[in-house]
Amino acid sequence: MDRDSAKQAAAEAAVQFVSDGMCVGLGSGSTTAYALEFLGRRIQAEGLDVRGVPTSFATERRARTHGIPLTSLDDVPTLDLALDGADEVDDAFRLIKGGGGAHAREKVVANQADRFVVLVDPTKEVERLGTQFPVPVEVLPMAATPVMNALEAAGASPTLRTADAKDGPVVTDQGLWIIDARFPGGIDAPEALNRMLCDRPGVLDHGL
Ligand code: A5P
Repeated sequence: MDRDSAKQAAAEAAVQFVSDGMCVGLGSGSTTAYALEFLGRRIQAEGLDVRGVPTSFATERRARTHGIPLTSLDDVPTLDLALDGADEVDDAFRLIKGGGGAHAREKVVANQADRFVVLVDPTKEVERLGTQFPVPVEVLPMAATPVMNALEAAGASPTLRTADAKDGPVVTDQGLWIIDARFPGGIDAPEALNRMLCDRPGVLDHGL
């Protein structure tokens, strides 16, 4: 099975967890994009009463395209289910997320869900987190240099995320910047890194 078919298979299987009357967190990324398509089809074919809470502007737009009614955590603070992708997953089900820069909202939405289903294809499985993907860290622009210095001190090679289609830093849905922190050989202690980043002023959230 090629990678795209594996993403579609994961998405189709995950959407089976949705049932009538549910409020569902809608993640971001290419795998979740397939799930939105499958969910839209199920809503139409089965007449499901389902509402979604999107985790990014991109997902909000996709969900509308597929006819998925939307709501927010203001109206529905507790969700039945959240569906989302990931960039890496280890044996302990620890994840790196945020390849698409949506991790801050994704974590808020997942945290409000009774059940969190992660859609990954086999290429995302790693023995050690950080071997394939950097950890994205969303920061206030004026805190970028101090946070990069702290990441370097923690053994990372940090770079400010930019995009070919844009001159300058990528700006997130929150209007902030993203630092991608690569850890040569992977991350020794993900929990300690999590604590360090959460304690750092100027960091909104990170992808661990
Ligand atoms: C978005 O910011 C991410 O957390 C995605 O969920 C993650 O990058 C997986 O994306 P793909 O499904 O496109 O691989």
